[in-house]
Amino acid sequence: MKLLLDTANQEKIKEYLTYLPVSGVTTNPSILKKEGQLDFFEHMKGIRRLIGFERSLHVQVVAQDYEGMLADAHRLIEGIDDQIFIKVPVTKAGLQVIQTLKKAKLGVTATAIYTEMQALLALESGADFLAPYVNRISVLNGDATSLIAHVQQEIERTQSSTQILAASFKQVGQVLDAVHAGAGFVTLGTDVLDQLLAHPSIDKAVADFERDWDEAFGRKQV
Ligand code: E4P
Repeated sequence: MKLLLDTANQEKIKEYLTYLPVSGVTTNPSILKKEGQLDFFEHMKGIRRLIGFERSLHVQVVAQDYEGMLADAHRLIEGIDDQIFIKVPVTKAGLQVIQTLKKAKLGVTATAIYTEMQALLALESGADFLAPYVNRISVLNGDATSLIAHVQQEIERTQSSTQILAASFKQVGQVLDAVHAGAGFVTLGTDVLDQLLAHPSIDKAVADFERDWDEAFGRKQV
Protein backbone atom coordinates (compact mmCIF):
# COMPACT_ATOMS: atom_id res chain seq x y z
CA MET A 1 0.00 0.00 0.00
CA LYS A 2 1.48 3.32 -1.11
CA LEU A 3 0.19 6.13 1.08
CA LEU A 4 -0.56 9.70 0.00
CA LEU A 5 -1.69 12.65 2.10
CA ASP A 6 -5.01 14.15 0.99
CA THR A 7 -4.33 17.55 2.53
CA ALA A 8 -2.80 20.91 1.69
CA ASN A 9 -1.98 21.72 5.33
CA GLN A 10 1.76 22.23 5.44
CA GLU A 11 2.05 21.74 9.22
CA LYS A 12 0.23 18.38 9.02
CA ILE A 13 2.32 17.34 5.99
CA LYS A 14 5.52 18.14 7.95
CA GLU A 15 4.23 16.09 10.90
CA TYR A 16 3.28 13.05 8.80
CA LEU A 17 6.61 13.13 6.96
CA THR A 18 8.37 12.50 10.29
CA TYR A 19 6.80 9.06 10.79
CA LEU A 20 4.64 7.89 7.89
CA PRO A 21 6.01 6.30 4.69
CA VAL A 22 4.56 9.03 2.47
CA SER A 23 4.47 8.58 -1.32
CA GLY A 24 2.87 11.90 -2.20
CA VAL A 25 0.25 14.60 -1.64
CA THR A 26 -3.13 15.07 -3.33
CA THR A 27 -5.21 18.24 -3.29
CA ASN A 28 -8.43 19.49 -4.79
CA PRO A 29 -10.18 22.89 -4.65
CA SER A 30 -12.21 21.93 -1.55
CA ILE A 31 -9.09 20.77 0.31
CA LEU A 32 -7.34 24.04 -0.57
CA LYS A 33 -10.34 26.11 0.56
CA LYS A 34 -9.86 24.68 4.08
CA GLU A 35 -6.46 26.40 4.28
CA GLY A 36 -8.07 29.86 4.01
CA GLN A 37 -6.64 32.77 2.04
CA LEU A 38 -3.28 31.89 0.55
CA ASP A 39 -1.07 32.47 -2.46
CA PHE A 40 -2.00 29.26 -4.29
CA PHE A 41 1.15 28.84 -6.38
CA GLU A 42 3.50 29.74 -3.52
CA HIS A 43 1.62 27.34 -1.24
CA MET A 44 1.89 24.46 -3.73
CA LYS A 45 5.57 25.18 -4.31
CA GLY A 46 5.98 25.09 -0.52
CA ILE A 47 4.38 21.64 -0.43
CA ARG A 48 6.74 20.52 -3.21
CA ARG A 49 9.73 21.77 -1.19
CA LEU A 50 8.47 19.73 1.79
CA ILE A 51 7.92 16.46 -0.10
CA GLY A 52 10.66 16.72 -2.74
CA PHE A 53 10.52 15.37 -6.27
CA GLU A 54 10.79 11.76 -5.11
CA ARG A 55 7.16 11.96 -3.98
CA SER A 56 4.22 12.75 -6.28
CA LEU A 57 2.14 15.94 -6.10
CA HIS A 58 -1.38 15.87 -7.58
CA VAL A 59 -3.16 19.17 -8.31
CA GLN A 60 -6.61 19.58 -9.85
CA VAL A 61 -7.91 21.68 -12.73
CA VAL A 62 -11.00 23.79 -12.01
CA ALA A 63 -12.55 24.68 -15.39
CA GLN A 64 -15.15 22.29 -16.80
CA ASP A 65 -14.70 22.73 -20.57
CA TYR A 66 -11.90 21.28 -22.70
CA GLU A 67 -10.09 24.54 -23.46
CA GLY A 68 -10.45 25.79 -19.90
CA MET A 69 -9.16 22.55 -18.33
CA LEU A 70 -6.22 22.48 -20.71
CA ALA A 71 -5.40 26.12 -19.92
CA ASP A 72 -5.66 25.31 -16.18
CA ALA A 73 -3.31 22.34 -16.63
CA HIS A 74 -0.68 24.53 -18.29
CA ARG A 75 -1.08 27.24 -15.62
CA LEU A 76 -0.50 24.57 -12.93
CA ILE A 77 2.62 23.29 -14.68
CA GLU A 78 4.03 26.80 -15.21
CA GLY A 79 3.15 27.96 -11.68
CA ILE A 80 4.26 24.85 -9.75
CA ASP A 81 6.48 22.50 -11.79
CA ASP A 82 6.31 20.09 -14.71
CA GLN A 83 6.49 16.98 -12.50
CA ILE A 84 3.01 17.39 -10.99
CA PHE A 85 0.19 15.00 -11.80
CA ILE A 86 -2.72 17.01 -13.16
CA LYS A 87 -6.00 15.86 -11.66
CA VAL A 88 -8.75 15.83 -14.27
CA PRO A 89 -12.36 14.88 -13.44
CA VAL A 90 -13.62 12.09 -15.73
CA THR A 91 -16.29 13.90 -17.74
CA LYS A 92 -16.67 14.06 -21.53
CA ALA A 93 -14.36 17.09 -21.70
CA GLY A 94 -12.14 15.55 -19.01
CA LEU A 95 -11.51 12.41 -21.07
CA GLN A 96 -10.53 14.56 -24.03
CA VAL A 97 -8.15 16.55 -21.78
CA ILE A 98 -6.60 13.34 -20.39
CA GLN A 99 -5.83 12.14 -23.93
CA THR A 100 -4.32 15.51 -24.91
CA LEU A 101 -2.17 15.73 -21.76
CA LYS A 102 -0.92 12.17 -22.20
CA LYS A 103 0.02 12.87 -25.83
CA ALA A 104 2.16 15.70 -24.41
CA LYS A 105 3.66 13.13 -21.96
CA LEU A 106 2.35 14.95 -18.87
CA GLY A 107 1.34 13.18 -15.64
CA VAL A 108 -2.42 12.70 -15.21
CA THR A 109 -4.61 11.55 -12.34
CA ALA A 110 -8.19 10.85 -13.41
CA THR A 111 -10.41 11.97 -10.56
CA ALA A 112 -14.06 12.22 -9.43
CA ILE A 113 -14.53 8.55 -10.35
CA TYR A 114 -17.89 7.21 -9.16
CA THR A 115 -18.46 4.49 -11.77
CA GLU A 116 -16.58 1.57 -13.25
CA MET A 117 -17.19 2.94 -16.76
CA GLN A 118 -15.49 6.24 -15.89
CA ALA A 119 -12.48 4.28 -14.60
CA LEU A 120 -12.29 2.02 -17.68
CA LEU A 121 -12.49 4.98 -20.07
CA ALA A 122 -9.83 6.92 -18.15
CA LEU A 123 -7.64 3.80 -18.13
CA GLU A 124 -7.98 3.41 -21.89
CA SER A 125 -7.28 7.16 -22.29
CA GLY A 126 -3.88 6.61 -20.67
CA ALA A 127 -4.27 8.22 -17.22
CA ASP A 128 -1.39 7.39 -14.86
CA PHE A 129 -3.65 7.16 -11.80
CA LEU A 130 -7.38 6.47 -11.39
CA ALA A 131 -8.99 7.95 -8.28
CA PRO A 132 -12.25 6.22 -7.31
CA TYR A 133 -14.12 8.09 -4.56
CA VAL A 134 -14.64 5.28 -2.08
CA ASN A 135 -16.73 6.94 0.63
CA ARG A 136 -18.80 9.01 -1.78
CA ILE A 137 -19.60 5.81 -3.75
CA SER A 138 -20.66 4.06 -0.52
CA VAL A 139 -22.88 7.00 0.45
CA LEU A 140 -24.66 6.51 -2.89
CA ASN A 141 -25.14 2.83 -2.04
CA GLY A 142 -22.53 1.82 -4.61
CA ASP A 143 -19.86 -0.87 -4.25
CA ALA A 144 -16.43 0.74 -4.33
CA THR A 145 -14.57 -2.50 -3.59
CA SER A 146 -16.11 -4.29 -6.57
CA LEU A 147 -15.30 -1.26 -8.78
CA ILE A 148 -11.67 -1.35 -7.63
CA ALA A 149 -11.40 -5.14 -8.06
CA HIS A 150 -12.86 -5.09 -11.58
CA VAL A 151 -10.72 -2.16 -12.73
CA GLN A 152 -7.58 -3.75 -11.25
CA GLN A 153 -8.41 -6.95 -13.20
CA GLU A 154 -8.61 -4.89 -16.39
CA ILE A 155 -5.31 -3.14 -15.60
CA GLU A 156 -3.65 -6.54 -15.19
CA ARG A 157 -5.35 -8.04 -18.28
CA THR A 158 -4.11 -5.17 -20.44
CA GLN A 159 -0.71 -5.06 -18.69
CA SER A 160 -1.21 -1.33 -18.22
CA SER A 161 1.10 0.77 -16.02
CA THR A 162 -1.91 2.74 -14.71
CA GLN A 163 -2.37 2.60 -10.94
CA ILE A 164 -5.47 2.82 -8.78
CA LEU A 165 -5.16 5.71 -6.31
CA ALA A 166 -8.24 5.23 -4.15
CA ALA A 167 -9.56 8.45 -2.55
CA SER A 168 -12.38 9.87 -0.45
CA PHE A 169 -12.13 7.81 2.74
CA LYS A 170 -13.87 8.41 6.03
CA GLN A 171 -12.82 5.25 7.94
CA VAL A 172 -9.74 3.06 8.28
CA GLY A 173 -11.87 0.00 7.41
CA GLN A 174 -12.68 1.50 4.01
CA VAL A 175 -8.95 1.88 3.35
CA LEU A 176 -8.28 -1.80 4.13
CA ASP A 177 -11.20 -2.88 1.91
CA ALA A 178 -9.81 -0.81 -0.99
CA VAL A 179 -6.32 -2.27 -0.57
CA HIS A 180 -7.70 -5.83 -0.34
CA ALA A 181 -9.67 -5.18 -3.55
CA GLY A 182 -6.43 -4.23 -5.36
CA ALA A 183 -5.80 -0.50 -4.90
CA GLY A 184 -2.02 -0.03 -4.87
CA PHE A 185 -2.25 3.60 -3.70
CA VAL A 186 -4.56 5.31 -1.23
CA THR A 187 -4.83 8.99 -0.35
CA LEU A 188 -6.09 9.82 3.13
CA GLY A 189 -7.29 13.01 4.77
CA THR A 190 -6.06 14.10 8.18
CA ASP A 191 -9.13 12.66 9.96
CA VAL A 192 -8.29 9.14 8.73
CA LEU A 193 -4.47 9.58 8.93
CA ASP A 194 -4.78 10.46 12.61
CA GLN A 195 -6.67 7.19 13.19
CA LEU A 196 -4.16 4.85 11.48
CA LEU A 197 -2.29 3.92 14.66
CA ALA A 198 -5.11 4.68 17.10
CA HIS A 199 -5.85 1.47 18.99
CA PRO A 200 -6.05 1.20 22.79
CA SER A 201 -4.38 -2.24 22.75
CA ILE A 202 -1.25 -0.83 21.06
CA ASP A 203 -0.87 1.85 23.76
CA LYS A 204 -1.48 -0.70 26.53
CA ALA A 205 1.06 -3.19 25.13
CA VAL A 206 3.77 -0.51 24.94
CA ALA A 207 2.96 0.79 28.44
CA ASP A 208 3.04 -2.77 29.85
CA PHE A 209 6.48 -3.46 28.32
CA GLU A 210 7.86 -0.22 29.76
CA ARG A 211 6.43 -0.98 33.23
CA ASP A 212 7.84 -4.55 33.27
CA TRP A 213 11.29 -3.34 32.15
CA ASP A 214 11.24 -0.60 34.79
CA GLU A 215 10.28 -3.12 37.49
CA ALA A 216 13.01 -5.54 36.35
CA PHE A 217 15.87 -3.07 35.70
CA GLY A 218 14.88 0.13 37.49
CA ARG A 219 14.87 2.36 34.42
CA LYS A 220 12.58 3.21 31.48
CA GLN A 221 15.12 2.75 28.69
CA VAL A 222 17.56 0.01 27.65
C1 E4P B 1 -8.69 13.18 -3.78
O1 E4P B 1 -7.88 14.10 -3.67
C2 E4P B 1 -10.14 13.43 -3.72
O2 E4P B 1 -10.41 14.65 -4.34
C3 E4P B 1 -10.62 13.44 -2.30
O3 E4P B 1 -10.16 12.28 -1.65
C4 E4P B 1 -12.14 13.55 -2.19
O4 E4P B 1 -12.45 13.42 -0.83
P1 E4P B 1 -13.89 13.81 -0.20
O5 E4P B 1 -14.88 12.81 -0.71
O6 E4P B 1 -13.68 13.69 1.27
O7 E4P B 1 -14.20 15.20 -0.64
